[in-house]
Amino acid sequence: MGSTEDLDYPQIIVQYSNGFLISKVMFTACELGVFDLLLESGEPLSSDAIAACLGTSTMGMKRLLDACVGLKLLAVEMTQERALYRNTEISSIYLTKSSPKSQYHIMMYYSNTVYLCWQYLADAVREGRNQYERAFGVSSRDPFGAMYRSDEEMLKFMAGQNSVWSICGRDVLAAFDLSPFTQIYDLGGGGGALAQECVSLYPNSTVTIYDLPKVVQVAREQFVSPEERQISFHEG
Ligand SMILES: C[S@@+](CC[C@H](N)C(=O)[O-])C[C@H]1O[C@@H](n2cnc3c(N)ncnc32)[C@H](O)[C@@H]1O
Repeated sequence: MGSTEDLDYPQIIVQYSNGFLISKVMFTACELGVFDLLLESGEPLSSDAIAACLGTSTMGMKRLLDACVGLKLLAVEMTQERALYRNTEISSIYLTKSSPKSQYHIMMYYSNTVYLCWQYLADAVREGRNQYERAFGVSSRDPFGAMYRSDEEMLKFMAGQNSVWSICGRDVLAAFDLSPFTQIYDLGGGGGALAQECVSLYPNSTVTIYDLPKVVQVAREQFVSPEERQISFHEG
């Protein structure tokens, strides 16, 4: 039951209503390269400098940066003449492309794919099926056929999945002691980030990844080097 305060001012209802705005501010700052630029510059920058470097409008960038400050994704220092923006620690670690814990790829997948499908959530509930057809004009009967509607989309999905494992793979694999198992099979193992965490945590293990042929091909070419001899693939 809600407290009297909640009923006088419905804080969670207001938060939930604005949730999608918050996500999109973060996704947009990632997509435009704000966090990457501030990391690379090594010093705080004005909104005009950021807009000029990233080729955006000055007014639009200033508003985006101030929204990021409100969300604690950026910090701002006020000098006499201007405001200077820098990354917060959490943004440098998780929202820049070059960080080992980067969540950039999953952010982009959420922003450009998941976000568009969720626009049709009411239709999904009415019809009991995913909404790739409405969102992207592709048949939604085979979900992975829809998700992998182009090689580029497949690559984005694989990179997105991999980025998630960079922050939680080790905890998942350490939840149970897998050291007695030396031969491990990862069914639908995708880009192989979990397999990589697995052989790192359990050095005596080997992992065989099973996935669709075109996923296996991209994983071999772009994500798992042949030198990682403890990881092998099986198409199917
Ligand atoms: C939700 S993704 C998870 C990927 C990976 N386990 C990870 O967490 O990064 C599901 C995986 O199952 C694979 N998959 C879907 N249908 C499959 C099939 N019929 N045979 C083998 N793999 C399949 C997809 O290509 C995808 O890599």
